[in-house]
Parts: sequence; C-alpha cells; structure tokens
Amino acid sequence: MKKTLFVANWKMQPERAKDASLLWGATKRAAKTARSTSVVVCPPFVHIAPLAKSIDRSVLLGAQDVSLYPDGAHTGEISAGMLTNLSVRFVIVGHSERRHIGETNEIVARKVKVALAAHLRPIVCVGEHERGMHGEHLGHLQEQMTKSLAGIGKAGAQNLVVAYEPLWAIGKSFKYAMKPAEIHETSLFIRKILVKLFGRTAGTAIPVLYGGAVASENIASVVYEGEVDGVLVGHASLSSQQVTGMIRALESKK
Ligand code: PGA
Repeated sequence: MKKTLFVANWKMQPERAKDASLLWGATKRAAKTARSTSVVVCPPFVHIAPLAKSIDRSVLLGAQDVSLYPDGAHTGEISAGMLTNLSVRFVIVGHSERRHIGETNEIVARKVKVALAAHLRPIVCVGEHERGMHGEHLGHLQEQMTKSLAGIGKAGAQNLVVAYEPLWAIGKSFKYAMKPAEIHETSLFIRKILVKLFGRTAGTAIPVLYGGAVASENIASVVYEGEVDGVLVGHASLSSQQVTGMIRALESKK
C-alpha cells in the first residue's frame, strides 16, 4: 500500500529549543501509531541537529530550504550535503514564502538539482496567488512547474515530490482551504504536466501533495476526496493536539 505523506512545515517556529523538542516528541508519539502514513518533520535549520539525535523510525527529517550552491564560500548558506549528514531526507524547495522574497523558478530549479545530487528528496512547491475566472491559474502553474523542474531527468524524477499550495489558502482557518473537488481537479492537471515532463511511469509515481489551511477538521476530505498523495501542513503542525488529530484522521480512513 502506498503511504500517505504527512509533511509538517514548522516555518520559523518554535523560537526555543525546549519547545521544539516537546513538539518533536509529541509528533513522534503520534507518528508511532501510524501504519499507512509517512510523517516528515521540517524544523528550522537550528533545531535540526539537536532533534536528529533522537530520530527513530517513526518520523523522517526534512529541511525548509537549501543553498543553491553545493559547497564553497557562501556566507549564511546551508548546503545539501550538510543536511544529508544530519539524517535529513527531504527538503522543501520554492515555498511561496521564499518565492515572495525573491526566489525565482530558475533558483528553485538549481536547488532541486543540488538537493537530488545530495540524495535529498525535494518537495517542490507551486501555487497561484489567486484563481482567475478563466483558468489563468493553470497557465501560471504550468510555467512554475516547467521552469522549476527544468533539467531534471527521469532518474531525478523518482525522488521528486510536488506540493500544490494555493497562496490564498496558506495560513488560514481550515474553513478557507480549497474544496476537495477543486484540489482533485488541480492535482490531475499537475499530474498531466508531470507525465508530459517525465513520461507516464515516472510522472505517475511522483507524489502530489496539497498544502494550505489543512487541519484535523479537513485533512481526511482533503486527502481522500481531493485524491492527493499527502499534505504539507504549516500552522496546524505546531499544535501537538492537531498533529495527533490529523494523523488519527488519516489513519482511520484507510
Ligand atoms: P498552512 O501553511 O498549513 O499554515 O496554511 C502551509 C504551508 O505554507 O506550507
């Protein structure tokens, strides 16, 4: 059975190491009960090394960004190799909050390549600012995907994950998440582009996630009615109660 991917994106939180450790512990406890869900936690860089010391088989570690340079003199940057050496397996690339501060599709494509070369699985984020009346957002998605995944071959595609996150839903209450029927429709469109880029076999195997206002209240309908391979969860992943509820909701539907 293909497992559902549950990716927790903590963003720039929590501030204190103690709180990060508590949330990590609670997430691991919830993840231990999961049979059909793979749980990936993406803490801020500074928390990765201490948390990696207590990693077990219940969760996988991810990062929220990576340098586009594989090595060298780049002040303030974190390389893909440094992450791999800390047991990090996934990395979010091209999140809208990074695109907002200047990350272009071309930069995203370079980061994807650097991540793949270091054996990290990039979770490439795409999504529109708003939905046009005439399907303009589809053109935007197609351009983001084609350019952000430029130069990735079929071998690289085996380790890709794509996260569709409509910007207008991010950070909102679950009531404002995209409706499952629209999630399904958009994920099919994304799948079509992946098949065009990588061929039927590789394109069909790439997990497509949904992100934006996912919480325990809507996660089951997002995944099972929206028919996506998993979720990228922001603010709800900071609440241990929510994390427990979300994993339980995913598991009880299988
Ligand atoms: P949200 O964020 O769950 O807080 O809406 C999702 C994301 O930005 O990845």
